[in-house]
Amino acid sequence: MRVLVIGSGGREHALVWKIAQSALVDKIFTAPGNGGTQSQGAINTPLADNDIDALAAFVRKEKIDLVVPGPELPLTLGITDRMRAQGTACFGPDAYGARIEGSKAFAKEIMARTHVPTASSAVFSDARSAQSHARKMGAPLVIKADGLAAGKGVVVARTDEQIRQAINDIMTARTFGPAGDRVVMEEFLEGEEVSLLCFCDGKNAVPLPSAQDHKAARDNDQGPNTGGMGAYSPAPILDDNGLEKMTDIAVRPVLKELAAQGHPFVGVLYAGLMMTASGPRVLEYNARFGDPECQPLLMRMRGDIVRIMLDCINGKLDPNSVVCSGQTALGVVLAAKGYPGDYSRGHVITGIDRAEATTGGIKVFHGGTTVRGDALVSNGGRVLCVTALGDDLEQARKNAYAAMERIRMPDSFYRTDIGIKGIRHLAGQEG
Ligand SMILES: Nc1ncnc2c1ncn2[C@@H]1O[C@H](COP(=O)(O)OP(=O)(O)OP(=O)(O)O)[C@@H](O)[C@H]1O
Ligand SMILES: [Mg+2]
Repeated sequence: MRVLVIGSGGREHALVWKIAQSALVDKIFTAPGNGGTQSQGAINTPLADNDIDALAAFVRKEKIDLVVPGPELPLTLGITDRMRAQGTACFGPDAYGARIEGSKAFAKEIMARTHVPTASSAVFSDARSAQSHARKMGAPLVIKADGLAAGKGVVVARTDEQIRQAINDIMTARTFGPAGDRVVMEEFLEGEEVSLLCFCDGKNAVPLPSAQDHKAARDNDQGPNTGGMGAYSPAPILDDNGLEKMTDIAVRPVLKELAAQGHPFVGVLYAGLMMTASGPRVLEYNARFGDPECQPLLMRMRGDIVRIMLDCINGKLDPNSVVCSGQTALGVVLAAKGYPGDYSRGHVITGIDRAEATTGGIKVFHGGTTVRGDALVSNGGRVLCVTALGDDLEQARKNAYAAMERIRMPDSFYRTDIGIKGIRHLAGQEG
């Protein structure tokens, strides 16, 4: 098979790495890819992930058999609809189904129809009524731009002034453009977050083990939200029983509803959960693998991912085909100084081979990297995700940080506390 992976981050490198292990595959292309996908043997193609016409023409020209979109943008722009129209298999939902991520208001509608536990909310399409509703509610409140905003469209407002400012930025100043045509205003919830990702074939949902991301830029969840500074799996806060229960509560009813609306959801449906004192709540849905959750999850996954993707596309996902090792995996993101704000590119990166040789079960997935001459240089905010396996969380954490210490990149930083919440949980369970 000839496979095209769309995207350029750590998730896409992990997907290429896993797809390359499939006996079904003889060639992999990435659009646009990065320094890691190239070193993994894939052919990087300078096509943007939102240029659906160019991607469709490339698929025809190269006789691609399977398309795997990594990020949400091409999915919301209808890459799957386009691929289906030209008879090419594509692992992801159609544009209608991708609205579960592309529109927070749509997701809330679906959750209301299917009684998924979530924060109470209201949707506004004009700033004046949004502001007056907010004044009535008062802080704390969560303000979300309806459309895609690259993970930056959500403000957890803890003061009335922050609420006013957030609505003004999103709806009046239009910081996120048309994504701010509407806002979702939500009840503020408190609790630990955990990610539930499921393979879906339109009817059936099969969960991957739980995973926990770290959104804030600095240790102890301090600093601005980022695309994610590290993740590990499994997350003790959601054990296998909880996983199955939450798949029944938060994923299978949504699948049923989307199918009833004529758009069976094929791909990965990712529910962002918060474990509150009054029970689990769904904060949001993503219609793709998370980044950085994808990296530790694929490190643990056994079996042929291409086989599973094709079974999802053909509506015959076998629950027993999604198997993961009992080991724990943990990934730490190396980011450029200044991320998620302004940062510089072009920093030389060294030590990756030494890092991967630290112990067995280490893989350094590239995010924002590119090759310049014979040097590997940084080319984004989140540059690498150093991911390690271990027999338990302590060991996976130790292995990942030992490997990270061998990597050199000027003007970079990483969080030192990835996995600590899980270790505290385990200690609490033992206590
Ligand atoms: N109702 C809520 N109460 C408290 N915090 C919330 C609430 N909703 C969202 N958050 C916080 O804001 C973060 C981002 O919100 P959400 O996941 O809805 O948006 P997103 O931009 O789509 O994120 P992602 O990039 O993970 O897809 C959450 O991870 C959580 O920390
Ligand atoms: Mg999201």
